[in-house]
Amino acid sequence: MTPRQRRRCALFGLPFCWLSAHCAVSPSPSLVSDVVVPIDNERPLIVAATWHSSIKQVLERRCVRCHLGTQLAPVDLRSLEEVRRLGFYLARLVTDRTMPPMLPSETGHPLDAPWGPTAHEQQLLSDWIANGMPEGSRSAMEETPPTDGSSRPPIPNRPADLELVAPEWTVPPETLEEHRCFVLPGSLAQNTLVRAIRWLPGNASIVHRMNLFEVRGRASQRLETVAGETMSYPCFSGVAVDRAWSDSLESPDFDVQQVGAWTPGAPSRSLPGDAVIPLRAGSRFVLQVHYRKHRRVSTQPDRSGVAMFFESRGTEGYWLPLAVPTFTVMPGARPDTSAARASTSSNLLAASYVHAVYPVMHARGRSLVLRGDDASGRSRPWFELPLWSFNWAREEYFAQAIHGPSSVTLTCVWDNTPAGQPSVDGVQVAPRLLTPGETIDDERCEVLLFVTRTPISTRTR
Ligand code: HEC
Repeated sequence: MTPRQRRRCALFGLPFCWLSAHCAVSPSPSLVSDVVVPIDNERPLIVAATWHSSIKQVLERRCVRCHLGTQLAPVDLRSLEEVRRLGFYLARLVTDRTMPPMLPSETGHPLDAPWGPTAHEQQLLSDWIANGMPEGSRSAMEETPPTDGSSRPPIPNRPADLELVAPEWTVPPETLEEHRCFVLPGSLAQNTLVRAIRWLPGNASIVHRMNLFEVRGRASQRLETVAGETMSYPCFSGVAVDRAWSDSLESPDFDVQQVGAWTPGAPSRSLPGDAVIPLRAGSRFVLQVHYRKHRRVSTQPDRSGVAMFFESRGTEGYWLPLAVPTFTVMPGARPDTSAARASTSSNLLAASYVHAVYPVMHARGRSLVLRGDDASGRSRPWFELPLWSFNWAREEYFAQAIHGPSSVTLTCVWDNTPAGQPSVDGVQVAPRLLTPGETIDDERCEVLLFVTRTPISTRTR
């Protein structure tokens, strides 16, 4: 067995060991083909999937946005040879919903362009692997690039209205992970409505996450002091300057708002319908970048940035924070106990439209659930992350906006045992008392909800 197989073996136990070893043998030539046998004129029966008939497409739609065999995701899932080598292991990661990373559970409100393979796609993959992974013959269908199926409009097809690039930064060779806030040049000349962001990761092999913040008024004046000459400073989550929010959707008042977030694989699209985010004259922008390396090596400098597209009108919305304001989690608290849990409820969203959710916990997070009342006042899950992963927090849009819930409840669970601790430069830290905050030693239990006061218009203009 190769070291990789041994690792999987340790992860998934004996049956998998066997499968892994078994699978290393080249797949048996298969007798099945991708012939379509018409039973009646309306419902053809597909005898068996082949690589060319459907599997390649499924992987392209669901996996290849990350799996190009780069440092980010080490296997190239465009290659039949690679996929055959992984075989049952790959099927297992898909059926237990470990891949793609951090999938929301399917019990929540239906999502727009969900990342996870459908039940049908999972079945296709499993059957194909069980059938010996036949290649089949090339089909016309595989030449059409798969779409992500999103109903959000694409990024406008014109040059960006404002492109801002961070000052150059080199991650020190000995550093494995770094979170840094870059103060982007200039400030907004006038009140503006932003419609879409195109993310510009500089050194794509180490940029793992980007968050864009608008910093207003007094807070923006403090940025110069915090940032110093490099125009950047360490920050773990948030921008480390005040971000007070008034509890009003009518005329929200705040110092800092998140304008958007990116992780590798996230599609570049506009806000849903005709939604726009208002930005204020005089504001500055902070780009938070999360760098990740697999080894202690020196890397090329990074210059990441954003390209923003503005609009003269639209339905105004905000990423409204809903946070558990206070909690304490004792060192050693296990995730299956109430000591590792915190919750909050809010009526803030009454009569508004909720379009998307962006979850925020830190490295000791285990799971997160957002529940809301339906029209009859019954609470049901809106959004549920059964297995939190700090590195993969992303915006998830609902297929349909949720309207007018009277109350929502957010619940977070942490793992504060020794095994649940993050590593700082390769060394696992010891459990400590967890309270809300923005540093790696703190935790957060929060969601940002993309909310509008009125329904968005989906008419194309
Ligand atoms: C959002 C990016 C992303 C998507 C989408 C994604 N993966 Fe992954 N995958 C990763 C990363 C990152 C790793 C490496 C995990 C690590 O190093 O901990 C990985 C690891 C794997 C591995 C283990 C490789 C090994 O050598 O052990 C397999 C197999 C895999 N993914 C399959 C899939 C499949 C199948 C899909 C689609 C259904 C998929 N992934 C979708 C990011 C992604």
